[in-house]
Amino acid sequence: MTKIEKIVLSYSGGLDTSIILKWLQETYGCEVVTFTADLGQGEELEPARAKAEMSGIKDIRIVDLREEFVSDFVFPMLRANALYEGQYLLGSSIARPLIAKHLVGIAREVGADAIAHGATGKGNDQVRFELAVNALDPSLKVIAPWRQWNIRSRTQLLEYAEKHHIPVPGDKRGEAPFSIDANLLHTSTEGKILENPAEVAPDHIYQRTVDPLDAPDTPEIITIGFEGGDPVSLNGTAMTPAALLSELNGLGGRHGVGRLDLVENRFIGMKSRGIYETPGGTILLAAHRGIESITLDRAAAHLKDEIMPRYAELIYNGFWFAPEREMLQALVDQSQAFVSGEVTLRLYKGSASVISRTSPWSLYSADLVTFEESPVAYDHHDAEGFIRLNGLRLKSWAARNGR
Ligand code: ARG
Repeated sequence: MTKIEKIVLSYSGGLDTSIILKWLQETYGCEVVTFTADLGQGEELEPARAKAEMSGIKDIRIVDLREEFVSDFVFPMLRANALYEGQYLLGSSIARPLIAKHLVGIAREVGADAIAHGATGKGNDQVRFELAVNALDPSLKVIAPWRQWNIRSRTQLLEYAEKHHIPVPGDKRGEAPFSIDANLLHTSTEGKILENPAEVAPDHIYQRTVDPLDAPDTPEIITIGFEGGDPVSLNGTAMTPAALLSELNGLGGRHGVGRLDLVENRFIGMKSRGIYETPGGTILLAAHRGIESITLDRAAAHLKDEIMPRYAELIYNGFWFAPEREMLQALVDQSQAFVSGEVTLRLYKGSASVISRTSPWSLYSADLVTFEESPVAYDHHDAEGFIRLNGLRLKSWAARNGR
Protein backbone atom coordinates (compact mmCIF):
# COMPACT_ATOMS: atom_id res chain seq x y z
CA MET A 1 0.00 0.00 0.00
CA THR A 2 1.26 3.49 -0.85
CA LYS A 3 2.40 5.58 2.11
CA ILE A 4 0.05 8.47 2.85
CA GLU A 5 1.19 11.42 4.99
CA LYS A 6 -2.03 13.35 5.58
CA ILE A 7 -5.65 12.93 4.46
CA VAL A 8 -8.51 15.39 4.09
CA LEU A 9 -11.78 13.49 4.55
CA SER A 10 -15.16 14.63 3.29
CA TYR A 11 -16.99 14.06 6.57
CA SER A 12 -20.70 14.42 7.34
CA GLY A 13 -20.57 12.99 10.84
CA GLY A 14 -23.09 10.38 9.72
CA LEU A 15 -22.70 6.64 10.02
CA ASP A 16 -20.71 5.97 6.83
CA THR A 17 -18.12 8.69 7.23
CA SER A 18 -17.74 8.01 10.98
CA ILE A 19 -16.80 4.45 10.12
CA ILE A 20 -14.54 5.66 7.33
CA LEU A 21 -12.75 8.01 9.72
CA LYS A 22 -12.02 5.14 12.09
CA TRP A 23 -10.92 2.92 9.19
CA LEU A 24 -8.57 5.58 7.76
CA GLN A 25 -6.90 6.07 11.14
CA GLU A 26 -6.45 2.32 11.57
CA THR A 27 -5.35 1.66 8.00
CA TYR A 28 -3.00 4.57 7.31
CA GLY A 29 -2.01 5.65 10.81
CA CYS A 30 -1.66 9.26 9.65
CA GLU A 31 -3.28 12.58 10.47
CA VAL A 32 -6.81 13.06 9.12
CA VAL A 33 -8.37 16.50 8.64
CA THR A 34 -12.16 16.44 8.45
CA PHE A 35 -14.11 18.72 6.14
CA THR A 36 -17.84 19.16 6.62
CA ALA A 37 -19.70 21.36 4.15
CA ASP A 38 -22.87 23.16 5.05
CA LEU A 39 -24.85 22.95 1.82
CA GLY A 40 -28.16 23.60 3.52
CA GLN A 41 -28.81 19.93 4.23
CA GLY A 42 -30.87 21.11 7.18
CA GLU A 43 -28.88 19.14 9.72
CA GLU A 44 -27.07 20.40 12.78
CA LEU A 45 -23.37 20.36 11.92
CA GLU A 46 -21.97 20.89 15.41
CA PRO A 47 -22.50 17.21 16.30
CA ALA A 48 -20.06 16.45 13.48
CA ARG A 49 -17.44 18.55 15.26
CA ALA A 50 -18.05 16.76 18.55
CA LYS A 51 -17.80 13.36 16.88
CA ALA A 52 -14.59 14.29 15.05
CA GLU A 53 -13.10 15.59 18.31
CA MET A 54 -13.99 12.34 20.04
CA SER A 55 -12.13 10.49 17.31
CA GLY A 56 -9.02 12.53 18.10
CA ILE A 57 -9.17 14.87 15.09
CA LYS A 58 -7.29 18.12 15.67
CA ASP A 59 -8.04 19.99 12.46
CA ILE A 60 -11.82 20.09 11.98
CA ARG A 61 -13.24 22.22 9.18
CA ILE A 62 -16.93 23.08 9.05
CA VAL A 63 -17.63 25.57 6.29
CA ASP A 64 -20.86 27.27 5.27
CA LEU A 65 -20.96 26.88 1.48
CA ARG A 66 -24.63 27.67 0.96
CA GLU A 67 -24.23 30.91 -0.98
CA GLU A 68 -21.37 29.60 -3.10
CA PHE A 69 -23.35 26.43 -3.83
CA VAL A 70 -26.37 28.30 -5.12
CA SER A 71 -24.68 31.24 -6.88
CA ASP A 72 -21.74 29.42 -8.52
CA PHE A 73 -23.17 25.95 -9.13
CA VAL A 74 -26.99 25.79 -8.98
CA PHE A 75 -27.70 29.07 -10.79
CA PRO A 76 -25.27 28.50 -13.69
CA MET A 77 -26.90 25.08 -14.16
CA LEU A 78 -30.38 26.62 -13.99
CA ARG A 79 -29.42 29.08 -16.78
CA ALA A 80 -29.19 26.01 -19.03
CA ASN A 81 -32.54 24.58 -17.77
CA ALA A 82 -30.57 21.40 -17.10
CA LEU A 83 -32.48 18.15 -16.60
CA TYR A 84 -30.93 14.68 -16.76
CA GLU A 85 -32.99 12.17 -18.71
CA GLY A 86 -35.73 14.73 -19.03
CA GLN A 87 -36.60 14.87 -15.34
CA TYR A 88 -33.79 14.91 -12.77
CA LEU A 89 -32.71 18.37 -11.57
CA LEU A 90 -29.22 17.08 -10.64
CA GLY A 91 -29.33 18.03 -6.96
CA SER A 92 -26.61 15.58 -5.88
CA SER A 93 -24.58 15.81 -9.07
CA ILE A 94 -24.05 19.57 -8.81
CA ALA A 95 -22.94 19.48 -5.15
CA ARG A 96 -20.00 17.11 -5.72
CA PRO A 97 -17.70 19.44 -7.70
CA LEU A 98 -18.14 22.12 -5.03
CA ILE A 99 -17.21 19.72 -2.22
CA ALA A 100 -14.25 18.47 -4.28
CA LYS A 101 -13.07 22.03 -4.87
CA HIS A 102 -12.92 22.67 -1.12
CA LEU A 103 -11.31 19.30 -0.37
CA VAL A 104 -8.55 20.25 -2.80
CA GLY A 105 -8.25 23.75 -1.34
CA ILE A 106 -7.86 22.42 2.21
CA ALA A 107 -5.45 19.68 1.10
CA ARG A 108 -3.19 22.33 -0.40
CA GLU A 109 -3.46 24.57 2.64
CA VAL A 110 -2.56 21.84 5.15
CA GLY A 111 -0.11 20.01 2.88
CA ALA A 112 -2.14 16.80 2.62
CA ASP A 113 -1.26 14.33 -0.13
CA ALA A 114 -4.65 12.58 -0.30
CA ILE A 115 -8.36 13.22 -0.05
CA ALA A 116 -10.92 10.61 1.00
CA HIS A 117 -14.65 10.35 0.38
CA GLY A 118 -17.49 8.11 1.51
CA ALA A 119 -19.13 7.45 -1.83
CA THR A 120 -19.73 3.76 -2.58
CA GLY A 121 -18.19 1.80 -5.43
CA LYS A 122 -21.48 1.48 -7.30
CA GLY A 123 -22.61 5.08 -7.56
CA ASN A 124 -22.06 8.23 -9.57
CA ASP A 125 -20.71 10.26 -6.67
CA GLN A 126 -17.31 8.52 -6.55
CA VAL A 127 -16.85 9.42 -10.22
CA ARG A 128 -17.87 13.03 -9.65
CA PHE A 129 -15.58 13.55 -6.65
CA GLU A 130 -12.60 11.96 -8.32
CA LEU A 131 -12.93 13.52 -11.77
CA ALA A 132 -13.20 16.92 -10.08
CA VAL A 133 -10.10 16.27 -7.97
CA ASN A 134 -8.22 15.07 -11.08
CA ALA A 135 -9.14 18.26 -12.89
CA LEU A 136 -8.22 20.56 -10.00
CA ASP A 137 -5.04 18.93 -8.66
CA PRO A 138 -3.62 15.95 -10.54
CA SER A 139 -1.00 15.36 -7.82
CA LEU A 140 -3.55 14.45 -5.12
CA LYS A 141 -4.25 10.80 -4.33
CA VAL A 142 -7.82 9.70 -3.72
CA ILE A 143 -8.85 7.18 -1.09
CA ALA A 144 -12.26 5.58 -1.57
CA PRO A 145 -12.70 3.20 1.39
CA TRP A 146 -15.86 1.65 -0.05
CA ARG A 147 -13.73 0.25 -2.89
CA GLN A 148 -10.84 -0.78 -0.67
CA TRP A 149 -12.12 -2.34 2.52
CA ASN A 150 -13.79 -5.71 3.02
CA ILE A 151 -17.18 -4.30 3.91
CA ARG A 152 -19.47 -5.25 1.03
CA SER A 153 -22.96 -4.24 2.13
CA ARG A 154 -24.89 -1.95 4.42
CA THR A 155 -25.53 -4.90 6.70
CA GLN A 156 -21.79 -5.51 7.10
CA LEU A 157 -21.32 -1.79 7.65
CA LEU A 158 -23.75 -1.90 10.58
CA GLU A 159 -21.86 -4.88 12.01
CA TYR A 160 -18.56 -2.97 11.77
CA ALA A 161 -20.17 0.00 13.56
CA GLU A 162 -21.42 -2.20 16.34
CA LYS A 163 -18.01 -3.80 16.79
CA HIS A 164 -16.31 -0.40 17.06
CA HIS A 165 -19.00 1.18 19.26
CA ILE A 166 -20.00 3.73 16.63
CA PRO A 167 -23.62 4.77 17.25
CA VAL A 168 -26.06 3.85 14.46
CA PRO A 169 -28.75 6.48 13.92
CA GLY A 170 -32.21 5.13 13.12
CA ASP A 171 -34.70 6.81 10.79
CA LYS A 172 -37.94 8.42 11.99
CA ARG A 173 -39.28 4.95 12.77
CA GLY A 174 -36.12 3.61 14.35
CA GLU A 175 -35.30 1.48 11.31
CA ALA A 176 -31.97 1.49 9.48
CA PRO A 177 -32.02 4.66 7.39
CA PHE A 178 -32.39 4.97 3.62
CA SER A 179 -29.42 6.32 1.68
CA ILE A 180 -30.19 10.02 1.76
CA ASP A 181 -28.38 12.96 0.22
CA ALA A 182 -29.71 16.41 1.01
CA ASN A 183 -28.73 20.00 0.26
CA LEU A 184 -30.42 23.32 -0.55
CA LEU A 185 -31.43 22.04 -3.97
CA HIS A 186 -32.87 18.65 -3.13
CA THR A 187 -33.31 15.58 -0.99
CA SER A 188 -32.58 12.28 -2.69
CA THR A 189 -33.60 8.96 -1.17
CA GLU A 190 -32.42 5.57 -2.38
CA GLY A 191 -32.16 1.98 -1.16
CA LYS A 192 -34.21 -0.48 0.89
CA ILE A 193 -37.76 -0.92 -0.45
CA LEU A 194 -37.09 1.63 -3.24
CA GLU A 195 -34.67 -0.81 -4.86
CA ASN A 196 -37.72 -2.55 -6.28
CA PRO A 197 -39.08 -0.14 -8.90
CA ALA A 198 -42.42 -1.97 -8.80
CA GLU A 199 -42.95 -0.98 -5.15
CA VAL A 200 -44.78 2.29 -4.53
CA ALA A 201 -42.66 4.61 -2.37
CA PRO A 202 -44.10 4.81 1.15
CA ASP A 203 -45.22 8.28 2.17
CA HIS A 204 -42.93 8.52 5.22
CA ILE A 205 -39.78 8.78 3.10
CA TYR A 206 -40.69 12.28 1.87
CA GLN A 207 -38.90 14.95 3.87
CA ARG A 208 -39.46 18.39 2.42
CA THR A 209 -42.70 18.17 0.45
CA VAL A 210 -46.27 17.31 1.41
CA ASP A 211 -48.30 14.91 -0.70
CA PRO A 212 -50.00 17.08 -3.36
CA LEU A 213 -53.28 15.45 -2.28
CA ASP A 214 -52.83 16.98 1.18
CA ALA A 215 -51.66 20.40 -0.07
CA PRO A 216 -53.79 23.49 0.66
CA ASP A 217 -56.95 23.99 -1.40
CA THR A 218 -56.02 27.65 -1.84
CA PRO A 219 -53.33 28.32 -4.44
CA GLU A 220 -50.39 30.60 -3.68
CA ILE A 221 -49.33 33.28 -6.15
CA ILE A 222 -45.65 34.29 -6.17
CA THR A 223 -43.51 36.58 -8.32
CA ILE A 224 -39.85 35.92 -9.04
CA GLY A 225 -37.56 38.61 -10.45
CA PHE A 226 -34.70 37.71 -12.83
CA GLU A 227 -31.55 39.65 -13.71
CA GLY A 228 -29.27 38.40 -16.49
CA GLY A 229 -30.67 34.86 -16.26
CA ASP A 230 -30.49 34.51 -12.48
CA PRO A 231 -33.34 34.82 -9.97
CA VAL A 232 -32.78 37.82 -7.68
CA SER A 233 -36.03 38.55 -5.86
CA LEU A 234 -39.21 37.07 -4.47
CA ASN A 235 -42.43 39.09 -4.37
CA GLY A 236 -40.44 42.28 -4.92
CA THR A 237 -37.90 41.66 -2.15
CA ALA A 238 -34.28 41.24 -3.23
CA MET A 239 -32.72 38.09 -1.79
CA THR A 240 -29.36 36.33 -1.84
CA PRO A 241 -29.26 33.15 -3.94
CA ALA A 242 -29.30 30.78 -0.94
CA ALA A 243 -32.00 32.73 0.90
CA LEU A 244 -34.18 32.77 -2.22
CA LEU A 245 -33.84 29.04 -2.87
CA SER A 246 -34.46 28.24 0.76
CA GLU A 247 -37.62 30.38 0.82
CA LEU A 248 -38.89 28.70 -2.36
CA ASN A 249 -38.23 25.29 -0.82
CA GLY A 250 -40.58 26.21 2.01
CA LEU A 251 -43.29 27.52 -0.31
CA GLY A 252 -43.00 24.68 -2.82
CA GLY A 253 -42.81 22.05 -0.10
CA ARG A 254 -46.06 23.25 1.45
CA HIS A 255 -47.80 22.91 -1.93
CA GLY A 256 -46.32 19.51 -2.79
CA VAL A 257 -44.21 20.87 -5.65
CA GLY A 258 -41.14 19.02 -6.96
CA ARG A 259 -41.61 15.34 -6.10
CA LEU A 260 -40.05 12.88 -8.53
CA ASP A 261 -40.01 9.09 -8.46
CA LEU A 262 -37.37 8.14 -11.04
CA VAL A 263 -35.54 5.17 -12.51
CA GLU A 264 -32.36 6.61 -13.97
CA ASN A 265 -29.26 5.36 -15.78
CA ARG A 266 -26.14 5.70 -13.66
CA PHE A 267 -22.88 6.59 -15.44
CA ILE A 268 -21.31 3.47 -13.98
CA GLY A 269 -23.68 1.26 -15.93
CA MET A 270 -26.71 0.22 -13.89
CA LYS A 271 -30.22 1.52 -13.52
CA SER A 272 -31.27 2.83 -10.12
CA ARG A 273 -34.51 4.04 -8.61
CA GLY A 274 -34.69 7.09 -6.37
CA ILE A 275 -37.10 9.59 -4.92
CA TYR A 276 -36.22 13.25 -5.36
CA GLU A 277 -37.71 16.30 -3.73
CA THR A 278 -36.72 19.55 -5.40
CA PRO A 279 -39.43 22.09 -4.54
CA GLY A 280 -37.51 25.37 -5.01
CA GLY A 281 -35.58 24.10 -8.02
CA THR A 282 -38.78 22.99 -9.75
CA ILE A 283 -40.31 26.44 -9.26
CA LEU A 284 -37.14 28.16 -10.50
CA LEU A 285 -36.93 25.98 -13.62
CA ALA A 286 -40.52 26.82 -14.57
CA ALA A 287 -39.92 30.51 -13.82
CA HIS A 288 -36.65 30.62 -15.78
CA ARG A 289 -38.30 29.05 -18.82
CA GLY A 290 -41.08 31.61 -18.35
CA ILE A 291 -38.74 34.61 -18.48
CA GLU A 292 -36.74 33.09 -21.35
CA SER A 293 -39.94 32.61 -23.34
CA ILE A 294 -40.27 36.37 -23.84
CA THR A 295 -36.62 37.43 -23.80
CA LEU A 296 -34.78 34.84 -25.93
CA ASP A 297 -34.74 34.78 -29.69
CA ARG A 298 -36.21 31.60 -31.13
CA ALA A 299 -32.98 30.22 -32.61
CA ALA A 300 -31.05 31.06 -29.43
CA ALA A 301 -33.67 29.28 -27.30
CA HIS A 302 -33.72 26.23 -29.56
CA LEU A 303 -29.93 26.00 -29.62
CA LYS A 304 -29.95 26.06 -25.81
CA ASP A 305 -32.49 23.24 -25.82
CA GLU A 306 -30.35 21.19 -28.20
CA ILE A 307 -27.24 21.37 -26.07
CA MET A 308 -29.12 21.03 -22.75
CA PRO A 309 -29.20 17.19 -22.58
CA ARG A 310 -25.47 17.09 -23.35
CA TYR A 311 -24.72 19.73 -20.71
CA ALA A 312 -26.90 17.93 -18.13
CA GLU A 313 -25.19 14.63 -18.89
CA LEU A 314 -21.77 16.22 -18.34
CA ILE A 315 -22.85 17.36 -14.89
CA TYR A 316 -24.45 14.00 -14.10
CA ASN A 317 -21.31 12.15 -15.19
CA GLY A 318 -18.99 14.36 -13.13
CA PHE A 319 -17.40 16.56 -15.80
CA TRP A 320 -18.18 19.93 -14.20
CA PHE A 321 -14.50 20.96 -14.33
CA ALA A 322 -13.97 19.69 -17.89
CA PRO A 323 -13.30 22.01 -20.83
CA GLU A 324 -16.40 20.94 -22.75
CA ARG A 325 -18.67 21.83 -19.81
CA GLU A 326 -17.02 25.25 -19.58
CA MET A 327 -17.47 25.78 -23.32
CA LEU A 328 -21.16 24.95 -23.15
CA GLN A 329 -21.48 27.17 -20.07
CA ALA A 330 -19.99 30.09 -22.02
CA LEU A 331 -22.60 29.55 -24.73
CA VAL A 332 -25.43 29.40 -22.19
CA ASP A 333 -24.17 32.42 -20.24
CA GLN A 334 -23.89 34.56 -23.35
CA SER A 335 -27.55 33.91 -24.10
CA GLN A 336 -28.65 35.27 -20.72
CA ALA A 337 -27.73 38.99 -20.99
CA PHE A 338 -31.33 40.08 -21.60
CA VAL A 339 -33.05 37.39 -19.52
CA SER A 340 -34.37 39.88 -16.98
CA GLY A 341 -37.86 40.68 -15.74
CA GLU A 342 -40.57 39.15 -13.60
CA VAL A 343 -42.48 35.89 -13.69
CA THR A 344 -45.61 35.16 -11.67
CA LEU A 345 -46.47 31.57 -10.80
CA ARG A 346 -49.29 29.73 -9.14
CA LEU A 347 -48.38 26.96 -6.69
CA TYR A 348 -51.21 24.53 -6.33
CA LYS A 349 -51.39 20.86 -5.33
CA GLY A 350 -48.05 19.79 -6.73
CA SER A 351 -47.82 22.16 -9.67
CA ALA A 352 -45.89 25.38 -10.25
CA SER A 353 -47.49 27.08 -13.25
CA VAL A 354 -46.36 30.29 -14.88
CA ILE A 355 -49.37 32.60 -15.14
CA SER A 356 -47.70 35.86 -16.25
CA ARG A 357 -44.34 37.31 -17.35
CA THR A 358 -42.97 40.80 -18.04
CA SER A 359 -39.62 42.15 -19.13
CA PRO A 360 -38.14 45.49 -20.16
CA TRP A 361 -36.29 43.44 -22.81
CA SER A 362 -39.26 41.48 -24.08
CA LEU A 363 -39.19 40.37 -27.72
CA TYR A 364 -42.89 39.69 -27.57
CA SER A 365 -44.93 41.90 -29.91
CA ALA A 366 -48.66 41.99 -29.34
CA ASP A 367 -48.95 44.21 -32.41
CA LEU A 368 -47.29 41.53 -34.50
CA VAL A 369 -49.17 38.50 -33.21
CA THR A 370 -52.63 40.00 -32.63
CA PHE A 371 -55.78 38.46 -34.15
CA GLU A 372 -57.12 42.00 -34.43
CA GLU A 373 -56.17 44.58 -37.03
CA SER A 374 -52.57 45.65 -36.53
CA PRO A 375 -50.52 48.76 -37.19
CA VAL A 376 -47.37 46.70 -37.74
CA ALA A 377 -46.21 46.03 -41.27
CA TYR A 378 -47.01 42.37 -41.76
CA ASP A 379 -48.03 41.33 -45.24
CA HIS A 380 -50.22 38.24 -45.21
CA HIS A 381 -49.13 37.52 -48.76
CA ASP A 382 -45.61 36.87 -47.43
CA ALA A 383 -47.03 33.89 -45.50
CA GLU A 384 -48.52 32.51 -48.70
CA GLY A 385 -45.13 32.45 -50.43
CA PHE A 386 -43.46 31.18 -47.27
CA ILE A 387 -45.78 28.17 -47.16
CA ARG A 388 -45.61 27.60 -50.93
CA LEU A 389 -41.81 27.34 -50.90
CA ASN A 390 -41.75 25.17 -47.79
CA GLY A 391 -44.40 22.92 -49.34
CA LEU A 392 -42.55 22.55 -52.64
CA ARG A 393 -40.46 19.56 -51.63
CA LEU A 394 -43.34 17.94 -49.74
CA LYS A 395 -45.42 18.04 -52.95
CA SER A 396 -42.61 16.38 -54.94
CA TRP A 397 -42.21 13.77 -52.24
CA ALA A 398 -45.94 12.99 -52.01
CA ALA A 399 -46.28 12.83 -55.82
CA ARG A 400 -43.37 10.38 -56.06
CA ASN A 401 -44.84 8.19 -53.25
CA GLY A 402 -48.23 8.12 -54.95
CA ARG A 403 -46.80 6.99 -58.29
N1 ARG B 1 -28.79 9.10 -8.01
C1 ARG B 1 -28.51 10.46 -7.68
C2 ARG B 1 -27.33 10.96 -8.48
O1 ARG B 1 -26.54 10.17 -8.92
C3 ARG B 1 -28.33 10.68 -6.19
C4 ARG B 1 -27.09 10.08 -5.58
C5 ARG B 1 -26.90 10.35 -4.11
N2 ARG B 1 -28.07 10.06 -3.35
C6 ARG B 1 -28.20 9.19 -2.33
N3 ARG B 1 -29.38 9.01 -1.83
N4 ARG B 1 -27.19 8.53 -1.86
O2 ARG B 1 -27.16 12.15 -8.66
